[in-house]
Amino acid sequence: MRIVKTIYEVRKAVKEWKREGLTVGLVPTMGYLHEGHKSLIERAVRENDRVVVSDFVNPTQFAPNEDFESYPRDIDADAALCESAGASLIFNPNAEEMYDNALTFVDMNKITKVLCGKTRPIHFSGVCTVVSKLFNIVAPDRAYFGEKDAQQLCVIRKMVKDLNFDIEIVGCPIIREADGLAKSSRNTYLNSEEREAALCLSRALNLGRKIITGGETNTETVVKAITAEIEKEPLAKIDYVEIVDFNTLERLDSVNKPVLCAAAVYIGKTRLIDNFIME
Ligand code: PAJ
Repeated sequence: MRIVKTIYEVRKAVKEWKREGLTVGLVPTMGYLHEGHKSLIERAVRENDRVVVSDFVNPTQFAPNEDFESYPRDIDADAALCESAGASLIFNPNAEEMYDNALTFVDMNKITKVLCGKTRPIHFSGVCTVVSKLFNIVAPDRAYFGEKDAQQLCVIRKMVKDLNFDIEIVGCPIIREADGLAKSSRNTYLNSEEREAALCLSRALNLGRKIITGGETNTETVVKAITAEIEKEPLAKIDYVEIVDFNTLERLDSVNKPVLCAAAVYIGKTRLIDNFIME
């Protein structure tokens, strides 16, 4: 496995693979890799001849008040994880290599303005821009995204359709800690008290799922139950709890099609997201 820093080197490697008739999978990440990322890489390794992992903390998806500077970074540990998962190449550029005075950005309406887009208004433009660039740099056959960031997955699928990228988008299930907390690079911000408090999110969503499985179809009832469960935790401050159509991200009154039930909660200063999808 190789680690490269330039677009030129990625393109050269991918061109050689394609000349040999090999398929290429891409796993875009911001590094500080954990089992969630690893599950994406392992799936990509199973489904493609070669796998590129991009490892880049993308500045354009962070607002000035967010955690770009403090976002955790550890390229050596990332390299070890990628190697053990069977990746062929890590693309670890710096911001200059990626953005070199760029004036062009990819933006999207509607589905980027709801859920996380309300508190993070520039976030998805940054995500769409960097993912478009990675798609053009790597030109993969398939790209892998986690359902952990369900809105991001939905936005990327829409972008691929709207901009005619010839890339298959593969969504992968959420990987959790043994106690239910969704794995996230940001969990490292939590102190032990906050780590315990953070469990309210998965606990409340599990409750919501049970209520729906038990036959409840009124989304307001389910959202209220989830909200009440989170509010039992004094360290938690809710950003949103919503049940939406998984394709359009429009709010639903009743659970009668594929739904995404998503929540974002601040535990202290750390913003955590989690969700479940019901087909
Ligand atoms: P990052 O947060 O590093 O996540 C990279 C990929 O790993 C995303 O597709 C995310 O959904 C997936 N992932 C994270 N935690 C997961 C978990 N617990 N289970 C399953 N998958 C998980 O998402 C980003 O980076 C960035 O926005 C990016 C797409 C790389 C663009 O900069």
